[in-house]
Amino acid sequence: MANSWGEEKLTVLLTEEEIKNRVRELGEEITKDLKGCDLTLVSILKGSFMFLADLCRYIRLPISVDFMGVRSYGKRTETSGIVEITQDLSSPIEDKDILIVEDIIDTGLTMAYLLDLLRIRRPRSIRICALLHKPARTRITVPIHYLGFTIPDKFVVGYGLDFNEKYRNLPYIAYIEDEPAFI
Ligand code: IMP
Ligand code: MG
Repeated sequence: MANSWGEEKLTVLLTEEEIKNRVRELGEEITKDLKGCDLTLVSILKGSFMFLADLCRYIRLPISVDFMGVRSYGKRTETSGIVEITQDLSSPIEDKDILIVEDIIDTGLTMAYLLDLLRIRRPRSIRICALLHKPARTRITVPIHYLGFTIPDKFVVGYGLDFNEKYRNLPYIAYIEDEPAFI
């Protein structure tokens, strides 16, 4: 059944209100924990753009923001873990305290790859903030210091997350009823 945002049938998983409240809590926690750090938020594009925009407004600290564009190779819903960098950071991160801002950690392969890539650049510290985590699909465990929500093993869209580039503008998070076999 079509909806106003696209063709697929969607079921709401997290409402705008739930997301807003949790993002505020995360921002407050980060503000408390990372006071005194030389903090750079590294937003992983495209999926985290909306989360980053909301989260950073609740972090009451002097921060820098930078962006890294990534794309997993292949078209399957499950990533190969081989990540193509479509856009690199604009500044060096040596001696900086890095907070990676990611939309979702699914198998963990993308984040494990990114951690290796960023560690080589010798930041002072690296932490991970993910809005969503699907523990049922974990293949590599990565440390998630700040987590919004643990979700079931469903393909979700909205609030930055896409299905074939659609639904990123959905203000809430929903899952697709008939799970797509490919993205
Ligand atoms: P991982 O490498 O398996 O952890 O996958 C990470 C990336 O796959 C995420 O950053 C998303 O871009 C994408 N992804 C994983 N699960 C979903 C989903 O349910 N909806 C939309 N994108 C997803
Ligand atoms: Mg992503």
